[in-house]
Amino acid sequence: MNPHDIASCLSVNEQGHLTIGGCDTVSLAATYGTPLYVMDEVTIRGALRDFRESMEVCYPNGGTVAFASKACSFKEMYRIVKDEQCYVDVVSGGELYTALSVGFPAEHILFHGNNKTDAEIRFALESGVGRLVADNPADLRRISRVAVQLGKTAAVFMRITPGIDAHTHDFVKTGQLDSKFGFTLENGEALEEVGQALSLDNIELKGLHCHIGSQIFDEKPFEHAAQVMLSFMDNIRSRYGVTLMELDVGGGFGIRYTKNDRPLAIGDYMKRASNALHAVCEQLSYPVPHIYIEPGRSVVASAGITLYTVGGVKHIPDVRTYVSVDGGMADNPRYALYQAEYTAVIANKADQPADTVVTIAGRCCESGDLLQEHTPLQQAEEEDILAVLATGAYNYSMASHYNRLPNPAVVMVGNGGSRVVVKGETYEDVIRNDI
Ligand code: LLP
Repeated sequence: MNPHDIASCLSVNEQGHLTIGGCDTVSLAATYGTPLYVMDEVTIRGALRDFRESMEVCYPNGGTVAFASKACSFKEMYRIVKDEQCYVDVVSGGELYTALSVGFPAEHILFHGNNKTDAEIRFALESGVGRLVADNPADLRRISRVAVQLGKTAAVFMRITPGIDAHTHDFVKTGQLDSKFGFTLENGEALEEVGQALSLDNIELKGLHCHIGSQIFDEKPFEHAAQVMLSFMDNIRSRYGVTLMELDVGGGFGIRYTKNDRPLAIGDYMKRASNALHAVCEQLSYPVPHIYIEPGRSVVASAGITLYTVGGVKHIPDVRTYVSVDGGMADNPRYALYQAEYTAVIANKADQPADTVVTIAGRCCESGDLLQEHTPLQQAEEEDILAVLATGAYNYSMASHYNRLPNPAVVMVGNGGSRVVVKGETYEDVIRNDI
């Protein structure tokens, strides 16, 4: 398929080479080496702007886009998000530290986590983060205790598990008891704990949060989540006489990894969820709250590709053909973890038909180190440059040092130019903390 159908920043030039953001990927591989993460800045900024503009249209009284930085966390990302006037969500002291290190405004940071440590809560409160998202009763009490110790008030959201199975097309109201995240709605825990949040010392309950899942193509779960959460806010109003005026509906918008994926345009998801939310507000006579969204994947996934060098092709007659590359599960664990589908292209033969079916194997010392199985590809040979598309989300941020492989560099391209935004690690970096 045409790489442009996967991401608008991709194209094929006259040499038949794959390009990203106007840069020839074969030249990028020659300049920076492989494996290499490449990200297109125009795509990232465009997605953030699309979200922000849709929020303005859908929620004229107030809406906030917070990039879920777990999808892709390094300094330059926080600079871009700040420049695009969006917020970020962080889930650890490390993500918070990275954001603050480039002057990201603390009040525009939401701090998540289902098991935050005292030290992380202290760090968040001392930095002045905008909202701490309490995930469960223990977390809520811990936030209160640390806030009391510091003599500060924590502005808190409570994460609610709304009981929506977003991973099926026919979403069903089940499973909320079986989630490590959130206060459970179904058994009454969430409503009781709101009472706690309203009475605990140094907690200011600002609103609620939910996140129903990731890589969701169907708009119905988003509509349903808006209805469930608003109804719960209405229950809180009846029970406690408190009208919460902020609601964070999380992220989860799907993106195109292969030609079979058919995500809606960002504006369409937003419009449908917003219509559902406004309708239920009207029905309940509840004022429309300030809405936060937390897109991660849909901001960065399509902006990224990973480039590898093919080391060898092993043909096992009547079994399969392995194409081995110089990276693998250490830089992209998503196939090993989730059998995640990707589109692969031989970057120096991008104009040729993908008329072979191969398994792309990584270089780690285990058989499960695969990037894709039974995937169409151009005829692969040693020294070819292989590109895996749409790797901008949950690849760099999930990379490991398995087999002591140094993490690859991240190069940002834009308008035909390129620059390193994360240096590739050296062996010295790999042993840096060994005693
Ligand atoms: N907000 C919260 C509270 C979340 O837990 C997540 C994702 C997001 C926002 C962003 O969701 P997104 O828009 O990216 O779907 N490692 C997995 C994905 C894990 C997502 C975890 N939470 C993967 O590689 O597919």
